[in-house]
Amino acid sequence: MAYLKSLTLAEVLDARGDPTVGAYVTTDQGLRAAAFAPSGRSTGRHEAVEVRDGDEEWYGGRGVRRHLARVARDVAEALEGLPLDIARIDEILRRLDGAGAKPHLGANVTSAVSLAVAKAAALSHNVPLYQYLNPLARTLPVPQMNLINGGRHAFNETPIQEFLVLPLGAPSVQAALEWTMRVYRALSEIVRQRYGQHALNPGDEGGLTPDVPTVQIGLDLMSRAVEQCGLSDGMRFGLDMAATHLYEPSTQRYHIDRPYSRDELFDLYAEVAAQRRVISIEDPVQEDDLSGLALLTRRLDIQLVGDDLFVTSPVRVREAIRQKAGNALLWKFNQIGTLSEAWAAAELAKRHGYEIVVSERSGETEDAAIADLAVALGASQIKTGAPVRGERTAKYNRLLEIERELGSQAQHAGEALMGRYG
Ligand code: PGA
Ligand code: ZN
Repeated sequence: MAYLKSLTLAEVLDARGDPTVGAYVTTDQGLRAAAFAPSGRSTGRHEAVEVRDGDEEWYGGRGVRRHLARVARDVAEALEGLPLDIARIDEILRRLDGAGAKPHLGANVTSAVSLAVAKAAALSHNVPLYQYLNPLARTLPVPQMNLINGGRHAFNETPIQEFLVLPLGAPSVQAALEWTMRVYRALSEIVRQRYGQHALNPGDEGGLTPDVPTVQIGLDLMSRAVEQCGLSDGMRFGLDMAATHLYEPSTQRYHIDRPYSRDELFDLYAEVAAQRRVISIEDPVQEDDLSGLALLTRRLDIQLVGDDLFVTSPVRVREAIRQKAGNALLWKFNQIGTLSEAWAAAELAKRHGYEIVVSERSGETEDAAIADLAVALGASQIKTGAPVRGERTAKYNRLLEIERELGSQAQHAGEALMGRYG
């Protein structure tokens, strides 16, 4: 097995221009791998933490240079000279930090290092990352494309964070991208006519940014675009409610166009599931309401995805399984901080019939590794923004490359999803 010869940590920028962590690894064979930690804005309370320097002037106190100056040497000394064994290195990172939420090293540091080590290991075997992690990987995920951005991801008056299209009927990644790009163009024209061209400015995940006060209006806009393209048969819709950020604990109400009780919110979900081809809702309730999620899971026969609710944590996923809450895991490895822990969460979820939706963060970088990770995990879906902007298209373009590499061996998750939820 190859060895980790050197590890360098450095401040790099994400697509919002905020600082994040880059990890650079060299191996004893002279190979080099780099990985960047993405960064969330609509973060959950139970996530592992990104450590930043509040007292630093750089980037309004969001820099990571001082933090790296404090921890980089310890991390490098602990890892240099070790075999490129992901599980072992992740275990050392966990022990070095000493706490589950990674408050000392920061999940931004541990995520970048963990991924860089995995990339270096794959390089040393001279195979692509997805193949290194899973030699039997064949399934390509369906993209969940975020076409209208709101909430914390856009400067508009749209309370719902994400309106998504799922091209379940597309026979390939190539076709899925083509379909969604056509819908994106049609939607852009509809939005331009109704809201003016400022609403075409992209949000953090590349989606359009009209002021959409209700769930129904957003879905109407997307339905019109899909119909215009003649793609209604193969397209379904999804929502990321990011309900934690709509929730007012003092009144126990969710604020959209008006305050909703949980029961009213569930009635709304039932309506859009029955009448508007919504087959997936992410974080439909606030992050601590697993029992509410369980209630909704009994009521609706659609995909219910836990993001802030599950935070890619084996512990929280186990509890969700126990309560029969939700049926899909949003998988963001920096929510937990190491690939090994995130892997364990996915395996556990899969064993209990949960779908896996590998996801970007709103603050992405050009690092495209989640495309490989999605294929390695056999995830049925990947959520990585609209089909525009380099930090988003990097992932889609990598999926296209993997699709070409797999050739006739490639399988597609869309058909099974259509059968289950379509
Ligand atoms: P975040 O949001 O990356 O800003 O946390 C993404 C999501 O909620 O899915
Ligand atoms: Zn989410």
